[in-house]
Amino acid sequence: MASLYDRPDLYDLTDKESKDKITLGHWETLFKGKNIQTVLDVSIGTGGLTLPMTDMGIALSGADLSEKMLSRCKEKADKKGVRVDLRVSDFRRVSEVFDRKFDCVVSTGNSLPYVNNADIRNTLHQMDALVKENGYLYFDTRNWDKILKEKQRFFLYNPVFKEDERVNLIQVWDYHEDASMTFNILYTFEKEGKIYRREEFTERYFPVKLDFLLGILRELNYTDIEIMPLPVQFGPFDREKTNWYCVMAKKGA
Ligand SMILES: C[S@@+](CC[C@H](N)C(=O)[O-])C[C@H]1O[C@@H](n2cnc3c(N)ncnc32)[C@H](O)[C@@H]1O
Repeated sequence: MASLYDRPDLYDLTDKESKDKITLGHWETLFKGKNIQTVLDVSIGTGGLTLPMTDMGIALSGADLSEKMLSRCKEKADKKGVRVDLRVSDFRRVSEVFDRKFDCVVSTGNSLPYVNNADIRNTLHQMDALVKENGYLYFDTRNWDKILKEKQRFFLYNPVFKEDERVNLIQVWDYHEDASMTFNILYTFEKEGKIYRREEFTERYFPVKLDFLLGILRELNYTDIEIMPLPVQFGPFDREKTNWYCVMAKKGA
């Protein structure tokens, strides 16, 4: 089955200026009072969650497994008139493709759970290797603790309207016995009240629990660990209710 990341045009279908503004506000709040000028996003995709921070004067670098997502990210960066250093890389080996360190290394867009929990530990170690002394590590993720408790399966999203076309998105989530999950993603495209095209994708995830992630940060000697909703404006974080959260932590000396 096709991957959505081969179709960055569809991935970006819900991009809006208002979303970029909220994302910028998120980073402004998060970085306030912290000395952060350089950021690396190890799962940058098309840049939806990190390109807006270039408006704060941050020098952004990015890596991703998907060349197609990266080339769309480059197009968007060019349009904004900013230069972003982009590299193709699996985040499990990302420290091999950058020979410098950053004030903050992030993984955005619930991307870590694309690999199993052991590989998430490995990835956080790889990210840590690229964080400067006293720098920061950050990631966001869906609240898998909540997902696994509720086991909701069907998700119907608001339609997107483009000229005379309406695009509908439905997701159905399968929970497997080996603790992995499949997101079945169906887009339908309609004109004049009739569906004339469908695009179907599947994504495999490995749910990860908050306590496991916090344990890795402590094992890496991170302090000042903050857990907040994504975006942070949706605060405060509630383990039972928040659907998507982010974690920011400071590297020990
Ligand atoms: C949900 S998208 C998030 C993209 C972007 N951060 C955003 O928020 O729009 C997940 C991204 O993770 C990337 N990805 C998945 N597995 C990866 C891996 N092992 N190493 C690096 N990137 C990976 C995918 O190619 C995709 O671009």
